[in-house]
Amino acid sequence: MTTLLTADGVSRSFDQPVLRDICLELRAGELVTLVGRSGSGKSALLAVLAGFDEPDAGSVTVTGSHGGGPPPWSAMAVLPQSFGLLDELTLEENVASPMLFGGGPVDEAMARAADLLTRLDIGPLARRYPGEVSVGQRQRVALGRAVAGRPKVLLADEPTAHLDHATIQLAVRLLLDFVAEGSACLVATHDPAITTQAHRRLELVDGQIRQ
Ligand SMILES: Nc1ncnc2c1ncn2[C@@H]1O[C@H](COP(=O)(O)OP(=O)(O)OP(=O)(O)O)[C@@H](O)[C@H]1O
Ligand SMILES: [Mg+2]
Repeated sequence: MTTLLTADGVSRSFDQPVLRDICLELRAGELVTLVGRSGSGKSALLAVLAGFDEPDAGSVTVTGSHGGGPPPWSAMAVLPQSFGLLDELTLEENVASPMLFGGGPVDEAMARAADLLTRLDIGPLARRYPGEVSVGQRQRVALGRAVAGRPKVLLADEPTAHLDHATIQLAVRLLLDFVAEGSACLVATHDPAITTQAHRRLELVDGQIRQ
């Protein structure tokens, strides 16, 4: 299987060491969960993998990315715990935005956005704005946007934290179909519903990865 992201000996300390000599690989076709207690360093690890934060030691290599700084959207998408939606765009425009900003055809982008919103059971809300829908509905928009541009790697931080059991199944189905097209996804989560359906599970304990 093609390796899409490699972390080699990544360490990061704040007041205390949070990440200690972390090595991991994400391969095409894999949905991998990252579990660990609150404060164990999941978001800190995702920030380093995304290029938002510099490790004190070690390196991160992302396929399709060149040089320093965060990789381009075609190589990597990040779904932050806080969603990061654009309030002045409708839900469908938010989902379409990675394709529109990437210069793709508008018709195709809007059709794909509509399809993703339908799959996430919020199709009828497409023309609303983020301020006009619920938190869980916003979270689904952020998930749709994260996969819309078919990035090679998706890093998702607790993407189902505001969803009910049935809606979580829709989200997991979407992520499994997304990786089946040749991408890789790392999901930080406390949710057993995702972990049991993922291909692999990584656990952060004392700053280190347990497979
Ligand atoms: N910028 C920062 N400055 C100082 N300490 C930080 C910073 N960012 C994270 N930390 C510390 O690093 C540790 C790991 O935090 P992190 O946010 O990665 O945890 P987490 O596993 O994502 O937890 P949760 O499940 O609650 O989201 C925590 O002890 C946190 O206080
Ligand atoms: Mg976190």
